[in-house]
Amino acid sequence: MERPRMFLISAACLCVYGILYLAATDLQQGEAKPLAGNETDRFALLAFKGQMADGPAGALSSWNDTIHFCQWEGIKCSASNQRVTIINLQSKRLAGSLSPSLGNLSLLQELNLGGNDLYGDIPPELGKLTGMRILNLTSNSFDGRISGNLSSCRELRHLDLGDNMLVGEIPAELTSLPKLRVLYLLVNNLTGSIPPSIGNLSSLTRLAMGRNNLVGASPTESA
Ligand SMILES: *[C@@H]1O[C@H](CO)[C@@H](O)[C@H](O)[C@H]1NC(C)=O
Ligand SMILES: *[C@@H]1O[C@H](CO)[C@@H](O)[C@H](O)[C@H]1NC(C)=O
Ligand SMILES: *[C@@H]1O[C@H](CO)[C@@H](O)[C@H](O)[C@H]1NC(C)=O
Ligand SMILES: *[C@@H]1O[C@H](CO)[C@@H](O)[C@H](O)[C@H]1NC(C)=O
Ligand SMILES: *[C@@H]1O[C@H](CO)[C@@H](O)[C@H](O)[C@H]1NC(C)=O
Ligand SMILES: *[C@@H]1O[C@H](CO)[C@@H](O)[C@H](O)[C@H]1NC(C)=O
Ligand SMILES: *[C@@H]1O[C@H](CO)[C@@H](O)[C@H](O)[C@H]1NC(C)=O
Repeated sequence: MERPRMFLISAACLCVYGILYLAATDLQQGEAKPLAGNETDRFALLAFKGQMADGPAGALSSWNDTIHFCQWEGIKCSASNQRVTIINLQSKRLAGSLSPSLGNLSLLQELNLGGNDLYGDIPPELGKLTGMRILNLTSNSFDGRISGNLSSCRELRHLDLGDNMLVGEIPAELTSLPKLRVLYLLVNNLTGSIPPSIGNLSSLTRLAMGRNNLVGASPTESA
């Protein structure tokens, strides 16, 4: 009676040990081989898709493994290294929240998602996109705060977050963006005052902040 039981226990231990060992070597291999940038881009796009209910037009139905992600609808890649440079999915009836993984698309220059039904936060991880020139999230239902992290996007020219339900104050950090030309924050529920340092945006040509709950002078549009 004792012996078969002992045997079973040690066999079970060996088995568990074996599984742990395999898992550990798997992890090590994962660490030893960092993902190529293009693979990271693919994961980021799939994470984005994973949080979307695709509209009746099925804009994301082409986002499947029968074709390379550079051919997916709304995606443009750099020809040299097949990394995502542009996402343009305006008015595609997408509904969902934005995946923080978008911040992994390290060569992204344009993110155009205006006119959809996106809600929740604008992920602060977008601040990792230091080459981003255009961020257009207009006419959605984003309802969080504007993260000061967007001020890390030093190449930003166009920032359009208008016509959402954003709350909180306008982060003063945004006024340090050296190349910002267009800043649209109109029609939200922003509070507080317009940061005085806004005058420091020397490249700014268009500014619209009307229809918020901002106190003090509220420039609706200036040229
Ligand atoms: C990523 O690049 C590597 C090396 O150039 C290539 O072997 C691989 O097929 C590419 N993967 C994708 C999804 O483009
Ligand atoms: C996958 O994408 C291809 C290319 O756009 C499309 O023709 C096909 O219908 C898609 N497959 C599915 C299962 O959606
Ligand atoms: C991408 O970003 C997410 C969230 O910021 C992070 O958790 C994840 O490890 C990243 N994935 C890859 C493949 O780099
Ligand atoms: C953002 O996109 C909308 C269309 O979705 C467009 O009307 C608007 O002009 C764009 N904003 C900027 C600053 O280019
Ligand atoms: C936001 O910016 C801060 C300061 O640069 C940084 O430490 C933090 O990791 C950023 N957050 C995200 C989510 O990228
Ligand atoms: C805007 O904010 C105010 C004050 O917090 C609140 O009373 C109002 O309901 C909000 N409006 C919208 C449209 O979210
Ligand atoms: C504008 O920028 C200068 C130099 O960075 C800084 O000293 C000044 O305080 C800023 N103005 C405001 C109103 O923040």
